[in-house]
Amino acid sequence: MSSDATLTIDPKADAQEIVRWGLDNFSPDIAAACSFGAEDIVVIHMMKQVRDDICVFSLDTGRMHEETYACADAVRRHLQVNIEWFFPERAAVEGLERAKGLYSFRESVENRKECCAIRKVEPLNRALSKRRAWITGLRRDQNVTRGTIEPIETDEQHGSIRKLNPIANWSSERVWTYIREHDLPNNALHDRGFPSIGCAPCTRAVKPGEDERAGRWWWESSKHKECGLHLDHDGDEDDGQGA
Ligand code: ADX
Ligand code: SF4
Repeated sequence: MSSDATLTIDPKADAQEIVRWGLDNFSPDIAAACSFGAEDIVVIHMMKQVRDDICVFSLDTGRMHEETYACADAVRRHLQVNIEWFFPERAAVEGLERAKGLYSFRESVENRKECCAIRKVEPLNRALSKRRAWITGLRRDQNVTRGTIEPIETDEQHGSIRKLNPIANWSSERVWTYIREHDLPNNALHDRGFPSIGCAPCTRAVKPGEDERAGRWWWESSKHKECGLHLDHDGDEDDGQGA
């Protein structure tokens, strides 16, 4: 791992160069995390420009939209990529649902974090346990919590592996231009006003002018809308109000 930490790339590298650098240096121990939003599909397409045998994983929380599953299958076929699915631990989900019902996440931030920890964070830890690097579709202007994301980071949360966010500096418009230029599959929810897509009961469409992530956990007041997959990047520690 320590030798990985010394690997560097020109800070001016563009997204496609970052993806190439990651795949050249870390394959086969590098994987893209995909939730089948437009950003992730751009990243997967860039990976396929470099090599065929890429690794892509997705965390199936059990509460995702039908549109997301349909998009996943379209990506699998159109981009010819095998998706590695990770499910939550069965006993943990059964225990949560027996003890607190199916909508405990609406009752408090603490309960919401508990559900995200079981359905997302633990499976992500497993997905990354044998990797030296991972790739995301995170962008800085998605939210205040993401304002300082760097295209290449060291992920202290996951054993100091490298975390590549190749389109960190991209705007949403640039993502959509790329999707159209390459005629890529698209999650139908985007066309219905969902700029950010998560679990079905915790995501809704946004109104014109609203923040991109306003539809995520909309009943929570804080702007700190993270679920634990990614550290809060606004310079503050998580304030506990919105994960
Ligand atoms: S989240 O933390 O609020 O859920 P968001 O939906 O913005 O994250 O997605 C940011 C990035 O996290 C995605 O580009 C993707 O790399 C990763 N990600 C989010 N959800 C999942 C998921 N269910 N499976 C795999 N990766 C995910
Ligand atoms: Fe649970 Fe909602 Fe988090 Fe999905 S987004 S894991 S349903 S609290």
